[in-house]
Amino acid sequence: MDLTGRVAIITGAGSGLGRAIAYRLAENGAKIVVNDVVAEQGNLTVDNIKSKKGEAVFSQTDISKWDGAKDLIKKAKDTFGKIDILVNNAGITRDMLVKDMQEEDWDKVLAINLKGAFNCCKFATPHMVEQKYGKIVNLSSRAHLGNPGQANYSASKAGIIGLTRSLSLEFGRYNINVNAVAPGMINTEGVKALKKYEMVVERALKITPLKRIGEPEDVANLVHFLVSDYSSYITGEIIHITGGRY
Ligand SMILES: NC(=O)c1ccc[n+]([C@@H]2O[C@H](COP(=O)([O-])OP(=O)(O)OC[C@H]3O[C@@H](n4cnc5c(N)ncnc54)[C@H](O)[C@@H]3O)[C@@H](O)[C@H]2O)c1
Repeated sequence: MDLTGRVAIITGAGSGLGRAIAYRLAENGAKIVVNDVVAEQGNLTVDNIKSKKGEAVFSQTDISKWDGAKDLIKKAKDTFGKIDILVNNAGITRDMLVKDMQEEDWDKVLAINLKGAFNCCKFATPHMVEQKYGKIVNLSSRAHLGNPGQANYSASKAGIIGLTRSLSLEFGRYNINVNAVAPGMINTEGVKALKKYEMVVERALKITPLKRIGEPEDVANLVHFLVSDYSSYITGEIIHITGGRY
């Protein structure tokens, strides 16, 4: 699925799924704007893409901030002249039971996971409308179904579904496809660092028909398809990538 000449912004691409997606799209010819709040990680993604003769630039902005998202989109436009693909991947967890959850724990997760995606769509879509072409993929999660200890995270990922559906309805007429992917447990650095990693994996495997944890490349495969023209008649969908687990 060739992406030669396409310009792709990937938020939170300094790690995990975002980095795997950035590598995949770059390998297939896309020019990548790597976004992250952590400069060292983002620059490493850029360096690795360049070392394989790909094109990439780093933008250190906080997408939960209106101006941060605006700066990111401007940098993409200024550097590569257009924006074809936006992958809203940046996300965090702050897991705890509601009895322990404070206002800041709720606000921070919603601000990055949900408002951040809105902010980037807000500023990227005018460019896509103008060129009558765009592909937006938002990272939801299987957690949109609800998980104990994840009221903030689950709500943000359920919100991503509403955002995706609304955007697909508003922007379909401009040839902009907006879809979401909802991964189950994927082996990223963040997941491997979980305090109860072994226990969580064991529990997940019991109820996962494919009997393995997902790899970042599994998600990159799906996102690659959704940003390619092989998916040009698909919009407003939420595609689960969970090894069959619900
Ligand atoms: N790994 C999983 O099992 C899994 C499952 C379902 C959904 N997801 C979703 O996939 C996405 C990526 O997950 P991951 O496991 O790769 O996470 P990760 O923690 O490895 O990477 C997230 C990246 O986002 C960056 N980031 C955080 N706040 C930011 C901000 N305000 N602006 C810009 N960048 C910011 C971080 O610095 C980090 O590099 C998230 O949205 C997550 O909710 C992950």
